[in-house]
Amino acid sequence: MSKPQIAFVTGGYSSEAVISYKSAITIQNNVDKEKYDVYRIDITPQGWFYSGPDGVKTDVDKNDFSIIHEGRKVNFDAVLIGIHGTPGEDGKLQGYFDLVNLPYTSCDATSSAITFNKRYTVAVAAFAGINVSRSLHIFKHTPVVPEDILKQLKLPLMVKPSNGGSSIGMSKVNKEDDLPAALEKAFKEDDQLLIEEFITGREFTIGVFKSKDEVLTLPFTEVFTFNDFFDFEAKYQGKSDEKTPAECDEGMAKKVRDTATRVYKIFNCRGVVRMDFIYNAERDEPFLLEINTVPGQSEMSVVPMQVRARGWDLKDFYSMLIEDALGQKKG
Ligand SMILES: Nc1ncnc2c1ncn2[C@@H]1O[C@H](COP(=O)(O)OP(=O)(O)OP(=O)(O)O)[C@@H](O)[C@H]1O
Ligand SMILES: [Mg+2]
Repeated sequence: MSKPQIAFVTGGYSSEAVISYKSAITIQNNVDKEKYDVYRIDITPQGWFYSGPDGVKTDVDKNDFSIIHEGRKVNFDAVLIGIHGTPGEDGKLQGYFDLVNLPYTSCDATSSAITFNKRYTVAVAAFAGINVSRSLHIFKHTPVVPEDILKQLKLPLMVKPSNGGSSIGMSKVNKEDDLPAALEKAFKEDDQLLIEEFITGREFTIGVFKSKDEVLTLPFTEVFTFNDFFDFEAKYQGKSDEKTPAECDEGMAKKVRDTATRVYKIFNCRGVVRMDFIYNAERDEPFLLEINTVPGQSEMSVVPMQVRARGWDLKDFYSMLIEDALGQKKG
């Protein structure tokens, strides 16, 4: 029998494309080529193309997402999604793949679109009883004066672009006078913002995935930041530390794992996702910050580290995700 034909999509249209290409190195080095024929496809603002072994680029036929390889038409059995940001993490490609009847490794179009918006994420989670911070959602087209925000929420606040990542455009606001500048900074990144009360506590990030209909968690990571919060400098310029698995008692660990599993089910997730939590000691409960439905896969990223901490190799892990997608194939 011939091997399943897998399209691995990378790139993307946003500034996160650079991160997608870092993830692509790990994915390409670890995906099982004995089991699958894997074709890398770049989805870029300049076009969707496959680069053959001879370096020649051929355009993808968008009618059915097929390519021509060595003079032969290749129709795929499933798509491995490796694009961070739009259009691979926000539901747009997922909607397209649904239309051309191709299964993929990530959450479906609706779950991807909701979780890409930080405010809709916490709203849906709260509705199902998950702890989240008190927050406001504001839009550029309807300006709100800082005094009105402070009437509804208690300082300190986190001001974040609703659709974003890597802490870009985010600020922690400790005093009233700093709020206007924080709003201005965040509006440079997005037309809508999430303003949240700051939650104190330990920060955990956890990978969650599904295999054969069972939701499983990876050993989770504690994040230590040397700055006021886990900002861009802390994330990418060494001002932070991480510990996988996190050192905490079993009661706390169980609450994090159980909450993460519930969140995965509430959002009807698929594939591997990564969730960020702050564990508030006073309430003795984890608070959900956000869900990343296409988490980073570079060698230094959290998910590959957690997979290894679990004692698995990445090859088997990626095969499991591909098998799950192949199992979704209709008709
Ligand atoms: N309500 C909050 N209370 C306390 N800390 C917060 C809060 N919201 C965000 N943070 C801090 O800011 C960081 C970034 O926030 P968040 O995870 O929501 O955004 P992000 O930029 O999308 O992150 P990623 O790079 O993981 O996609 C968190 O890791 C945490 O340190
Ligand atoms: Mg985050």
